[in-house]
Amino acid sequence: MRRLLFFLVILTAAGCSASDFYPLIQNIPDRTIISLDGSWHFIVDPYETGLKARFYLNAKAKNKQDLVEYDFDKSDVLNVPGDWNSQKKDLFFYEGPVWYEKSFSYRQREHVRVFVSFGGANYFSRVYLNGEALGEHEGGFTPFSFEITGKIHDGDNFLVVEVNNARRRDAVPALNTDWWNYGGLTRDVVLVEEPETYIQDYVIQLAKGSYEEVSGWVQLEGSTSAQQVTFEIPEAGVKKTVSTDAAGRAELHFPAKLELWSPAHPKLYKVILSAGSDKVHDSIGFRTIETRGTQILLNGKPIFLRGISMHEEAPVRGGRAFTQQDAETLLGWARELGCNFVRLTHYPHSENMTRLADRMGLLVWSEIPVYWDIDWENPATLQNAKNQLHDMIARDHNRASVILWSLSNETPVKPERLTFLRQLAEAARQLDSTRLITSAMNHVDEAGPDTRTLSDPLGEYLDVLGLNEYLGWYWGRPEDADRMQWKTTWDKPLIMSEFGAETPYGRHGALDQRWTEEYQVNLYQHQIAMLKKIPSLTGLSPWVLTDFHSPRRFLPGIQDYYNRKGLVSNLGQHKQAFSVLQKYYREIETGK
Ligand code: GCU
Repeated sequence: MRRLLFFLVILTAAGCSASDFYPLIQNIPDRTIISLDGSWHFIVDPYETGLKARFYLNAKAKNKQDLVEYDFDKSDVLNVPGDWNSQKKDLFFYEGPVWYEKSFSYRQREHVRVFVSFGGANYFSRVYLNGEALGEHEGGFTPFSFEITGKIHDGDNFLVVEVNNARRRDAVPALNTDWWNYGGLTRDVVLVEEPETYIQDYVIQLAKGSYEEVSGWVQLEGSTSAQQVTFEIPEAGVKKTVSTDAAGRAELHFPAKLELWSPAHPKLYKVILSAGSDKVHDSIGFRTIETRGTQILLNGKPIFLRGISMHEEAPVRGGRAFTQQDAETLLGWARELGCNFVRLTHYPHSENMTRLADRMGLLVWSEIPVYWDIDWENPATLQNAKNQLHDMIARDHNRASVILWSLSNETPVKPERLTFLRQLAEAARQLDSTRLITSAMNHVDEAGPDTRTLSDPLGEYLDVLGLNEYLGWYWGRPEDADRMQWKTTWDKPLIMSEFGAETPYGRHGALDQRWTEEYQVNLYQHQIAMLKKIPSLTGLSPWVLTDFHSPRRFLPGIQDYYNRKGLVSNLGQHKQAFSVLQKYYREIETGK
């Protein structure tokens, strides 16, 4: 996590802008974290005049002649974390810049470095402290931070953040999504205090292919010479001290007898890292994940992924989910379904979610929003996607639950797309060689009326193939699944990453009547029978856990800007198909 701060220092020294690598400061319990969550004043700026008007100065009229045409103190407030669309009725459809302002006081302390850290802000942010620009960030679902040591005042301070969720052709995602483009400071905003030399980042896990060897590294920031780092797993009787090199990095390799983490036994160990006056605690599970032919092996044993896809939308309350409670409710429903796996779509969900998955024993597919068609030949778009990939991996590389990094969802088969995604796959492997790389594909060849072959060239660069098929909804009839055979060109594990049908909760009718619970049940029953016959199938994550807001769903009285493919309604009501999938997962789990 903190390795990026190292980049920040280097970057500023080298005159690069901070936005090349978005430095991350993990909210590690030992750190002094000062929350800036709560009410922030805001100004909606539909014509993007705030920058020219220098809203970041948070100016006040000094006298009767002074012309200042905004005043944050007299402006309305928004809650942070939170999106503006679900907080303000008149901002439900709003896309564009909103300026946030927060005044706060701070007590400076000797030998302390200070950072302002954002868990996530959708989509493009400019951050200012006391009128001074700190930097910019692009990407709606990954954390970023800026060092403000020497910039923060002893006493009164004000932060101004412009957040703009306007969609752009060259952005990631681009112009078109089937989810609501919630804008704002959607995750925590905190000040983080660090000692002058601190533990910036670390990776601790089982060495590849071993159950008794721990390997990893620690990166210090601020140290100019070799320094001692002590690594402990008290419960396993592990205590090791290693020295960093001149660049502040130390490699860790040592034997340890550890209970392996798995859905059935989500064992987490308290891990302590200390260096100088700095100390970090974390909870880490140890497990191995790999493939063998069409199987996925967890701790060396084949595992079948009983999954569900889900968006990060708050149940009942609506809007972007961000609380611990939101995560517990959503993952609680997945657990109730009988899942051991969740596909977090189509963007990195909050850290609450992946840490809870660690504790609950749910395996995770985490994805960056390279979604449908994007500006494949634009180098800035590629760099943006690489940054989001980098930050997704950097935030969760110590989470045992996360086993799959997904590069994209339903992207068109064309050469420029393949070049783009091949480079992302290479980048992902360089960043993390211990997890599996995947993507959700949806282009199949028709090899006869009842045979479909997944031969998308992207499959070559993946460890696990994801396939979205909507047989029975967007094409064919539910019962056509009874005859359908699925093949893939590669001897690799296949996850049916999406299938489903829409119905509002409580709408009933004939089995073949769309938009009814009976139709959804019927589709699931035929799908499940079909899936059981696919030899290389190693998991599934039907679309979708809960109904969610979408700007592409218009049917009055049925959709009303909701995608209704949920097995649970947006109000938490379980549809009949929920029990169909639950029964199938119970069968798999019990083998009966
Ligand atoms: C697509 C896509 C989802 C979308 C779903 C649907 O496959 O990946 O984001 O919501 O289908 O059409 O319901």
